Amino acid sequence: MTRKTDIFIAIDTKSLDDAKKIINQLSSYNCGIKIGKELFTACGPEIVHWVKKKGFKIFLDLKFHDIPNTVMKACEAASRLNIDIINVHTLGGKEMMMAAKNAVSNTQIKLIGVTLLTSHNQDFIKEIGLKGSINDCVKSLAISAAESGLDGIVCAAPDIPNIRKYVPSNFIFITPGIRLEKIRGDDQKRAANPIDAVNFGSDILVIGRPITGNPKPQEVLLKIYNQLND
Ligand code: C5P
Repeated sequence: MTRKTDIFIAIDTKSLDDAKKIINQLSSYNCGIKIGKELFTACGPEIVHWVKKKGFKIFLDLKFHDIPNTVMKACEAASRLNIDIINVHTLGGKEMMMAAKNAVSNTQIKLIGVTLLTSHNQDFIKEIGLKGSINDCVKSLAISAAESGLDGIVCAAPDIPNIRKYVPSNFIFITPGIRLEKIRGDDQKRAANPIDAVNFGSDILVIGRPITGNPKPQEVLLKIYNQLND
C-alpha cells in the first residue's frame, strides 16, 4: 500500500467523563479524534481543548448547513479552536461552501464537505425527490465541493472510484461507515471494511462503535493500524 491512510476515532458519548475514559486508552500516534454533534453539544469547546492538550489531531464534525453568512461565522468560530479538520454539508450549496472556505482560508484547517450520509441509500434519494442514482448525486455534490475550493469530502468508501477523476488529485476522501464485520440492523447502510476502504482510495477512515464499543479500544485500533501500515 503506497498511500498513507489516517484513522480518526469518532467519540460519540454523552459526557466529558465518558469521552475521557475512551480517549485516555488511545494513542495519538495511531489516531486522531473526531468530535461530533453529541459530544460537542454536551461539552462545548472544553472537550476540544482537552483532546488537543493530549496531542491528538481533531476533526470537528459539526456538518454546518445554514445560510452562507451563518456558516461563515460558525467556521470562523471553529477556526479559533485550534482544530485540524471541519466540515459543512455540500447540500448547503456553492455560495455557502465558498463562504465557509473564505472563513478558513488563512488557517491550516482542512475544510471538508459531507456529501450523502453513509446511512442514506437509494430509498432516501427517492424519499426526498432527488433524481438519478445515489452515485450521480454523490458525484455532483463532490464536484460542487471541489469547485467551491473545499479540500475534500466525506463519502462512503465505495463512492470514491466513481468520483476521483472529477476532483483534484490532492482531494481528501474521508470515509465513515467502516465496519470490521457485518452488523445486523446497522444504521450505516453503505459500509466497508478498513482494507477495502483504503483500496477504494480513502485518505482518512472514521471509525466509531467498532472501536469505542470494545472494552479494549486501543487493541482494536492497533490491529487496524497495523493492517493498514503493513
Ligand atoms: O460508530 P460509527 O463507526 O458508525 O461512527 C461513524 C461516525 O461518523 C459518526 O460519528 C457519524 O456521525 C459520522 N459520520 C457518518 N457519516 C457521514 C458523516 C459522518 O457516519 N457521512
